[in-house]
Amino acid sequence: MESIGAKAKALNETIVELRRELHAHPELGHDLPFTESVIVRELTKLGLDEIKSGQGQGHGVFATLKGKKPGKVLALRADMDALPIQEETGLPFASTNGNMHACGHDAHVAILLGTAKLLADAREELAGTVRFIFQPSEETVNGALSMIESGALENPQVDAIIGLHTGNIWDGLEPGQIGWRVGPMMASTSTFSIVFEGKGGHGATPHLTVDPIVIAAETIVQLQTLVSREINPFEPAVVTIGKILGGSAFNIIAGKCEVHGTIRTFAPEIDGFLKKRIRETAEGVAASMRGRAAVAFTVNLAAVINDKTCALKMRDIVASSLGEEWVREIPLPSSGAEDFSFYLAKVPGAFFYHCSTFHCSGSSSEGAVCNYPHHNSKFDVNESVLWTGSGAMAAYALRWQD
Ligand code: NI
Repeated sequence: MESIGAKAKALNETIVELRRELHAHPELGHDLPFTESVIVRELTKLGLDEIKSGQGQGHGVFATLKGKKPGKVLALRADMDALPIQEETGLPFASTNGNMHACGHDAHVAILLGTAKLLADAREELAGTVRFIFQPSEETVNGALSMIESGALENPQVDAIIGLHTGNIWDGLEPGQIGWRVGPMMASTSTFSIVFEGKGGHGATPHLTVDPIVIAAETIVQLQTLVSREINPFEPAVVTIGKILGGSAFNIIAGKCEVHGTIRTFAPEIDGFLKKRIRETAEGVAASMRGRAAVAFTVNLAAVINDKTCALKMRDIVASSLGEEWVREIPLPSSGAEDFSFYLAKVPGAFFYHCSTFHCSGSSSEGAVCNYPHHNSKFDVNESVLWTGSGAMAAYALRWQD
């Protein structure tokens, strides 16, 4: 009998076609009618037991496949959304609508549709049930929760979940390899804003004003010491101020200045400590300079912490089903974030990387094919290896209960 790896490889052309169709029509956030229609069209061909569209905040999809043998319930998740970036890849199937699949979520959907096809064909040997989750709005980090609220992990109750991210998140993998890791995989993220209030006035008479831009500048410098002086050096943490807004002209002292930033950690207590210290620092600096600071925390996303059993199973299953050469351990976690953590708060599971880089040759000035980071207007995935993503997920679903 043909192996699941061979079947996946034979399906690559189909996976690529789907990826290109989705790539040409990127959609944002929860507003994904085209993407939803492609998913429903493809799943309908497979004779699944249930397809539920219109989920989440309107365009999420989940579907169910029952194997012929009894067993537990495994969920497989793909995110669907693109980014508001003008594409500059020059690909024949490049987007023309001003949005772009610059994070590879087009490939995630295509890979999961390929997985669904492989598993539908293997229904006779499949034990238990597989739930396919196509999730909107990962980039804005509120899609996973909306799918959970729609019941994506229930009826039947999901026992474990896996997901993957393609691209070049960790650059030590070879194209097509599945990267696994036990424990911390991706960081938690909290987003904050600080509004500094002073007293505006003429740039020539600063003594009659309270300058919020100087207060903001002082606070930004102070915040650099939180990680370097107050966190154990063996504990990963990041505090970044990515945006500052204030002032309108060179000779006007503004009344207000805003800064926006993000915190990345792997432990809730470190996240909590940094939030407390950011508030104290901003309020303290502002008070000492006769101004005020209003600190607000918005996004709160937990870290992706991989279940040991689920992560090690992926290593073993990929090695024995696809081959040793397709699997590799990731030595360090990423400070990027993923709303996959919402699922992990409900059921055990693990998140993996699927490497889809190109082998670069020559220098980029000679026009060689090369790799661009995620969220770059020239980001692309190596389509020739998408099958290993489908193969790994399908093999996992077939073998995880052995
Ligand atoms: Ni992404």
